[in-house]
Formats: sequence, C-alpha cells, structure tokens
Amino acid sequence: RANVFAITTGSKNLDTMLGGGIMTMSLTEVFGEFRCGKTQLSHTLCVTTQLSVEQGGCAKKVAYIDTEGTFRPERIKEIAERFDLDPEAALENVMYARALNSEHQMELAEQLSQELASGSYGLVVVDSIMANFRVDYSGRGELSERQQKLNIFLNKLCRISEEYNCAVFLTNQVQSDPGANSLFGPTSKPVGGHVLAHASATRIMLRKGRGDERVAKLQDSPDMPEGECVYVIKARGICD
Ligand code: GTP
Ligand code: MG
Repeated sequence: RANVFAITTGSKNLDTMLGGGIMTMSLTEVFGEFRCGKTQLSHTLCVTTQLSVEQGGCAKKVAYIDTEGTFRPERIKEIAERFDLDPEAALENVMYARALNSEHQMELAEQLSQELASGSYGLVVVDSIMANFRVDYSGRGELSERQQKLNIFLNKLCRISEEYNCAVFLTNQVQSDPGANSLFGPTSKPVGGHVLAHASATRIMLRKGRGDERVAKLQDSPDMPEGECVYVIKARGICD
C-alpha cells in the first residue's frame, strides 16, 4: 500500500486510532446520533486534504456531496485559518454539490468520475450517504430496490477511490428504534444494511461524551485494531 495517503482528521487521538488518518483508496464511514460531529469532521477533512503530505494532507482538492443542506462555507474558512491556508483559496478547492434526492445523488457520482479524472482530487465526502435513499424508498416493499441502488452508488465510489487514489468519507445515521431500546438510549446500529457494511473498509462509531467531548470507536479496519478515543469539536474544526 505504498501510495496510500493518510489524511489527518485534525485530532491526534483520532489519527492515532486510525493509523494516521482517513486513508485514500478506500471508503471510510462514520456513523452516530445527531450532533456527534459527522458534519464537522467532514468540514475539517475538506481543509486537511489540501495540506502538504508533510502536514498530514495530500495537497489535493475535495468533492463534497451534501444531502442535508448542512455544508457551511464559513466553517471551511475558519478551519483553513487554523491550518494557515488562505481561506478563500481553501473554499475554492471544495467542489460542492447538493444532492436533492437519491436519483440526483447517483447522477452526481457519475459526474464525479469525469471531474476526478483530472487527478487533482484527494477526497470525496458524502454527508450523509443514506438520507436520500431512506426518504425515496421508505415503503415496505422498497427495501431491496433501495439496496440495489445503494450498491451501484457504492461500487462507483469504490472504483473512484482506487482509480484516482482518493479517500471517500461517508457519514451515516443510526437506526432509531425507540420501542426496543428506550431504556438504554438510542441504538448505535448504522443504517444501510450489509451492502454499506461491506463497502466501508473502515467503520467508526461516534457518540457524545461530556460537554464538547465526543467519543470515536473504531469498529472495522483493514489494518488497525479496535479502539476508542476522545476528540472535541471547535469552531476551528475537530481537535483533541
Ligand atoms: P447530524 O447531522 O444532525 O446527525 O449531526 P452531526 O453528527 O453531523 O453533528 P455536527 O457535525 O453538525 O456537530 C454539531 C455539534 O458540533 C454541535 O452540537 C456543537 O456541539 C458542535 N459545534 C459546532 N460548531 C461548534 C463551534 O463553533 N464550537 C464548538 N465548541 N462546538 C461546535
Ligand atoms: Mg450532520
């Protein structure tokens, strides 16, 4: 895996747990309840990908697929300042697209292959992978069709990550199953079934800790042991 890059998350604890950061050439998935930092982590990676290899990046651009409308350009600029990058230039290096529904999300992946052929991209973010699919295939009999479409989308991303040596960072929601788990708090099972579980080489569970603190648990990794660590969310992005 000589030419795989590790992109720093902004948190040393998280990087250490991951063996350096978010890896190119494969899919990484973070999942967890609301406000655990999935979107903030996505924003931080938009900036750190642009750093030099010595600084923990790969000096490349970012493609960002936003399904929930939570991308904040101002946050990118704040994080850029932390890493001594020009805020405007850093923002310009993030190609942003809002996926309005699952069909549109699939089309965007198609367009992505063309855009990424330039070789100038190091990261693709999808925040969040399942939101559109869950809305568009919410009927009882629609699950297998949803999983088929999801599989096509993920295969495309897998191919892109390997062909253009970029990292793919997916955020995911957890199942809300209040009936079965009301006594024990929210469930921590990601949605997307085995199709998504199989596609994600690295799977990280996020949850809230005390105050600003968040806890990440590495559940699946091709070459790192299971582990847990704490990170915090600040205006300047993810840190320790
Ligand atoms: P959903 O998309 O709703 O599932 O949540 P998420 O996991 O994407 O959460 P997100 O990344 O949006 O994190 C939101 C949390 O980040 C908030 O609850 C805040 O605690 C924290 N946060 C956001 N901005 C700041 C900031 O400027 N300073 C600090 N200290 N915390 C912030
Ligand atoms: Mg979010």
